[in-house]
Amino acid sequence: MGSVSQSSHFEAAESVEPDGIFEVLRRYNADASPNKINVCVGAYRDENGKPWVLPSVQMATSKIAGADHEYLPMMGSRGFRDAAVELLFHGSRALSEQRISGIQSLSGTGALLLAGMTLKKATANIQHIYITSPTWPNHELLFDTMGFNVHWAPYYNNKTRSYDHEAFLASLAAAEPNSAVVLHACAHNPTGCDPTREQWTEIAQAIRSRGIFPIFDSAYLGFNSGSVDEDAWAIRHFIDDLGMEAAICLSFAKSMGLYGERIGAVLFVAATSELSGTLQSILENAQRATISTPPLYGARIAEAVLTSTDIKKQWAEDLVTMSGRILKMRGRLFQELTRLGTPGSWEHIVKQTGMFGYLGIGAEQVVHLEKEFNVYMANTSRISIAGLNDNNVEHFAKALDATARKFAGN
Ligand code: LMR
Repeated sequence: MGSVSQSSHFEAAESVEPDGIFEVLRRYNADASPNKINVCVGAYRDENGKPWVLPSVQMATSKIAGADHEYLPMMGSRGFRDAAVELLFHGSRALSEQRISGIQSLSGTGALLLAGMTLKKATANIQHIYITSPTWPNHELLFDTMGFNVHWAPYYNNKTRSYDHEAFLASLAAAEPNSAVVLHACAHNPTGCDPTREQWTEIAQAIRSRGIFPIFDSAYLGFNSGSVDEDAWAIRHFIDDLGMEAAICLSFAKSMGLYGERIGAVLFVAATSELSGTLQSILENAQRATISTPPLYGARIAEAVLTSTDIKKQWAEDLVTMSGRILKMRGRLFQELTRLGTPGSWEHIVKQTGMFGYLGIGAEQVVHLEKEFNVYMANTSRISIAGLNDNNVEHFAKALDATARKFAGN
């Protein structure tokens, strides 16, 4: 048979750049050096640089051993969903007035996707999404892929290396009508710079007076300070104190170390319980249209952690262990850089909060650190502080010191 020359449907297809965070991780994994350091992906590591299965999660997996593998409904596990709502909204009026709808999601990304799809279906007109500049790269990708007009709201001042409240408020005040904004509930990714409570109050007022819909990306509740209530302060302020509507995108990847289980939830707080019922149906419909029904295992683990008194108590301790170690490593890094007299000022490392440090060095220095010292970080110079430990922090600081000296004055 003669070959038939075939034209392709894909001739106009263009390849897409690999993800900036996971691509660095791929290079790290391919590096054979015993001294390599991974401060790239935001995943907790213990003091030996190893992934940590939380003691509370070990208790939960023993508790659920032998369970079946049936389908969950579209909302996911009701027990898990209710426990997540209780965790965040215990004692709130929104909860007692049944104004909270929500479903299980594929971690934080799945929650953001379902939040966007629900906004599209449930509001006649929200077309604009504001995201902070900078932000976690997936925010732009997700909302752009869903067909929203994505706008960057200035959030960080490179010179002062801190949150730029005036600039952020100004962009909210000038936001397009019919907008939503993605806020980081705590531990801003990548800068580690959170507004103060006073500043949050002003942000909330600006959002309310402009009629903007707030979406809280809440991937670090409990992981930031060690206390979920403390880290959820901004969310509760919007909902309890100001009676605002909002979407909350929860992830238990970091706080329970359940990265690969993809367990999270998307919650909507609405003005009335009737609207909440409508939103619940739209959320479940969005789930059906994307993944049909969510996976079971992570939901079972998270539910066991959140609903068994002894396991929840252990989890509270685990959160303190993780956040405490990160805080300690911030201090150690700052101490080392100070001891070495590294050019530049580094106080921002101890002022920032959460999983990440935002070094503020140039892209060429990031490349140099990887090539010369086998130190792997995101090209924005964001480092996952959890990748540092007593065994590698000196090596890391020396590498940064040598790099800063080489490029000083450039
Ligand atoms: C990160 O920011 O490193 C993590 O949230 C992993 C991811 O999905 O990007």
